[in-house]
Amino acid sequence: MPHQSINAERLLARIRELGAIGRDGRGQLTRLAASDTEKLGRDALVGWLEAAGLDIAIDRIGNIFGVWQSHDNAGQLPLMLGSHIDTVINAGIYDGCYGVLAALEVIETLKEQGFTPARPIAVTAFTNEEGVRYAPDMLGSLVHVGGLAVEAALATVATDGTVLGSELARIGYAGSVEPGSLKPHAYVELHIEQGPVLDREAITIGAVENLQGISWQRVTIDGVANHAGTTPMAMRCDAGLAAARIGLFLRDHITRSNAPSVATIGTMRFEPDAINVIPSRATFTVDLRDPDEDRLQGLEAALADFLLRVAAEEGVEISVERLARFQPVAFDLGIVATIEASAKARGLKSRRMTSGAGHDAQMIARIAPTAMIFVPSRDGISHNPREHTEADDLVAGANVLLDVVERIACSGWKGS
Ligand code: GLV
Ligand code: MN
Ligand code: MN
Repeated sequence: MPHQSINAERLLARIRELGAIGRDGRGQLTRLAASDTEKLGRDALVGWLEAAGLDIAIDRIGNIFGVWQSHDNAGQLPLMLGSHIDTVINAGIYDGCYGVLAALEVIETLKEQGFTPARPIAVTAFTNEEGVRYAPDMLGSLVHVGGLAVEAALATVATDGTVLGSELARIGYAGSVEPGSLKPHAYVELHIEQGPVLDREAITIGAVENLQGISWQRVTIDGVANHAGTTPMAMRCDAGLAAARIGLFLRDHITRSNAPSVATIGTMRFEPDAINVIPSRATFTVDLRDPDEDRLQGLEAALADFLLRVAAEEGVEISVERLARFQPVAFDLGIVATIEASAKARGLKSRRMTSGAGHDAQMIARIAPTAMIFVPSRDGISHNPREHTEADDLVAGANVLLDVVERIACSGWKGS
């Protein structure tokens, strides 16, 4: 039987259109959560959801839902699809947006085909998935599953000093729906891989069976400011040097342990931040990840031990604040198998894989059967304007999502 397919041009045009929203004077794309530029992206998305005839709901944490439901299926829990449309700084156009727009495309295609789903189907764009402006990441989906109280989430202070609740109100996306009211029957998130595996192996579809644990910490080192020219090396309490030692330690420790763990120091600030003054303070973030919880705990413990050692050896004080901690997640094997079967039926190569990136799916997996579909990222590049996925792969991924949705939204699907 020939497969129905999504409208490739409509999907690709919307990805380009959303990708043009939020560019600065230098052409860089930055749509941080609840910012003015993200408001423009949200407005475009809501316009498309409305034009598709979906019922729009915005919850108190700003999560956007577009729901396709009928009289016949209104009492059923919805099949939820989606991702996020906030971005990192100087981002690519696919991360998150692809999953949201492909979900909308799938619903429009099913409507046009006259498909009668046994349950509602919802497109979701979760607030602050990236966590660049507000920690933790995946904040909107975390609130949706009850992992963080909405009041606490709304009170989150940003890296720029703003408060999330005020910013959502200011941009018009502090909704009235109580978070978590829309309980999913199942959740499927389509996303670019953001890593090198599918591209290297020339495989179109990743059936994502698990997602690694994430640990975010902010480290503050207090030393003593002093003259860069007159202070002998042995007499320094140099917060900057101590910070540099920690970065090197993490790389060497992971290399020596031969584990798949990864560690990143993505932000760093010195005070007083002057060329001829020894830094009195270094503040930086540490992002640790590993698919195995015990190994991730081991890495956290090794870092904690090393901080004590550096504090003693460099004559500095070190304090640590936890910003996010999520355990590794195993996805629903029934949905993973449905993804594999759908890829096979379309003649697409697939493989099971682990997600290296964090996703809203890891939160929703706490309350409903969940899995993810990946498509290749050229050269494994993401969180970078060079992020790219071939149009054929974007369309193939959306068609697999279409088939998975048809199977799950039929009356017979019970989950695994
Ligand atoms: C989200 O993009 C993350 O994995 O940090
Ligand atoms: Mn993403
Ligand atoms: Mn991202």
